Amino acid sequence: MKTVFASVLGFLLLGMGLGVSQAQKTYTIGMSQCNLGEPWRQQMNADVKRAAESHANLTVIFKDAQNDSLVQRSHVEELISQGVDLIIISPREAAPLTKPVAEAYDAGIPVIVLDRAVLGDKFTCFIGADNRQIGRAAGEYVQKTLGGSGKIVELKGLMTSTPGQDRHTGFLEGLDAKNHPGLEIIFDADMQWLEPNARKEMESALSRFDDIDLVYAHNDPGAHGAFLAAKAAGREEDIQFIGIDALPHEGVMYVEQGIMDVTFQYPTGGAEAIDTALKIFNGEEVEKKMVLGTRIFTKDNVGQGGAVVR
Ligand code: FRU
Repeated sequence: MKTVFASVLGFLLLGMGLGVSQAQKTYTIGMSQCNLGEPWRQQMNADVKRAAESHANLTVIFKDAQNDSLVQRSHVEELISQGVDLIIISPREAAPLTKPVAEAYDAGIPVIVLDRAVLGDKFTCFIGADNRQIGRAAGEYVQKTLGGSGKIVELKGLMTSTPGQDRHTGFLEGLDAKNHPGLEIIFDADMQWLEPNARKEMESALSRFDDIDLVYAHNDPGAHGAFLAAKAAGREEDIQFIGIDALPHEGVMYVEQGIMDVTFQYPTGGAEAIDTALKIFNGEEVEKKMVLGTRIFTKDNVGQGGAVVR
């Protein structure tokens, strides 16, 4: 009886000991954000922060590259030399950030790439929604809503970033203009994800074309910039506006207010990045790619929280 008691006690103490040593192990995560000027990126950082805060052993160092790839590159280098335990990066552009990410990875620091991709495969895990799928869903919606014929303006995100490329490719696939020759992209421009640029580009489009049926912008700030330009020209009623991101206090609110017609949710992946970091710290295997889902919000379904895109 005594031996049983002693071994149970020993087992319990061992268990507690393990618990203590695990709780004492702390980790520092470096979070390299490409630009904190946009609401969607503020949301991403807030999601990372909130998820990390529920784990007392995690500390996150946030860096904001203010939309400059060279600055972001030096942030990653700083995080490597600081010896952080893991890096989360949402890279501004694919090519310029590929090398620093690979350097961190080669130095044995796990790297989680969020939302925008880098080239090659020298990173631990990519987390993000399928931008090509979102673009395709937008194209299919446009083809239907315009009844197979109409004049379209496409305001592209930064085309050296992967979401810009994929939202464009997917859109062309969904639009299927080959089989609907009445659908025409009459104007396109790279507004680099920024609302003021989108507004300026839309002013040019409006001055060149008397007839515009729809604007497909690669993000909601772009769609809103285009709307403001059209409103200033007194033409906003004639044009439909489609965007991507669907933040509750941005795109979804614009759809509710009738400013935009459609927005597609683009989840930040912030919480998933922290979950994945914890798995890596625990020595668990993680998938190389985690694809997040999307939802469509239109005026008809916005009251019910949108609908899943399949
Ligand atoms: C913010 C943003 C979002 C967009 C994402 C693409 O910087 O432009 O609006 O969905 O980046 O990476």
